[in-house]
Amino acid sequence: MTLLLSKNDVIKVLNMPDCMKVVEKAFSELASGTAVLPLRINITPPDGLALYMPAYLKEMGALACKVVTVYKNNPTKHNMPTTIGKVLLQNPETGDVICIMDGGYLTAVRTGAASGAATAYLARKDKGQVAGIFGAGVQAKMQLWGVACARELSRAYVYDKIDEAAAKFAKEMGEKLHLDVIKVDSPDKILEADIICAATSSPTPIFDGKKVKKGTHINGIGSHTPGARELDAEIIKSSKLIADSREACLKEAGDIMIPIKDGIISENHIWAELGEIIIGKKAGRTNPDEITLFKSNGLAIQDVATAKLVYDKALAAGIGVNAEI
Ligand SMILES: NC(=O)c1ccc[n+]([C@@H]2O[C@H](COP(=O)([O-])OP(=O)(O)OC[C@H]3O[C@@H](n4cnc5c(N)ncnc54)[C@H](O)[C@@H]3O)[C@@H](O)[C@H]2O)c1
Repeated sequence: MTLLLSKNDVIKVLNMPDCMKVVEKAFSELASGTAVLPLRINITPPDGLALYMPAYLKEMGALACKVVTVYKNNPTKHNMPTTIGKVLLQNPETGDVICIMDGGYLTAVRTGAASGAATAYLARKDKGQVAGIFGAGVQAKMQLWGVACARELSRAYVYDKIDEAAAKFAKEMGEKLHLDVIKVDSPDKILEADIICAATSSPTPIFDGKKVKKGTHINGIGSHTPGARELDAEIIKSSKLIADSREACLKEAGDIMIPIKDGIISENHIWAELGEIIIGKKAGRTNPDEITLFKSNGLAIQDVATAKLVYDKALAAGIGVNAEI
């Protein structure tokens, strides 16, 4: 039997604190050598882009593959969303696909969870810090949730080039997190924050890296293609740079690849992978003045760990539909 889980089923069982725990464990498996993580496979049919993201986590007993497509003409041509994702979870002992679940909400939560874990390990520890969020889209919301689980915040700022999107974000996330979330009108205001998330669809830098204050922690999650970047060379150069995966950063992240190509930094500027910090192989923040920066490209280990969590919780709650395939 294969369990089928809709987006609503996933929403019912998945929360940020639980997701942060399994994503943290997935990163530690990656650093300890018990994870199998091939780079994502891209296929470009005429109308779009298809991505296949498999991974195996030995300690967690989790094996899965996420299938994501980005078809720009879907909304106008087929009345369907641009991005569609589903996860196929397998039984690692038999190989059988035991669950097929929606991957949209799962992707946003697991991306927020990686930034939450990075914030827990790298941001300053003082209470009452301010979060600043660039972007007010799907990912940005989960970024703030992850950061709010990692640190006790006094308030949060949000900036989006679409003013109404930022206003909607401030209202929705303020109510969800019981936090003062304030829409701001300039990127510079976000730079007053202690913990910053860059979560936009911009292909060019969204703020002036020279203006970032000492002691800031940044999570950069957008722009993961070689030619696009949200972060300028200045902030990359002046921060302690932590990658989700060195390999992914050097093959997919314009934020890192462009300054390397321009001779501003070398590959050695990547200080560590997040997993190496989690298992204590490398030091994280060593003083309150350092600027730390986590570059997230999105790894299949995050999807696989989260899919296993969702499956276990759905089974326990009796949620979903069983199908004989
Ligand atoms: N690292 C990961 O694991 C991961 C996972 C999923 C998506 N992403 C990336 O996250 C980014 C956001 O995705 P999304 O699904 O939230 O998209 P979205 O379209 O829902 O939201 C993006 C928002 O960014 C805003 N924006 C664009 N340029 C801006 C600028 N210069 N300043 C301020 N706001 C700006 C847009 O107005 C929009 O509201 C994308 O780049 C996507 O590829 C990363």
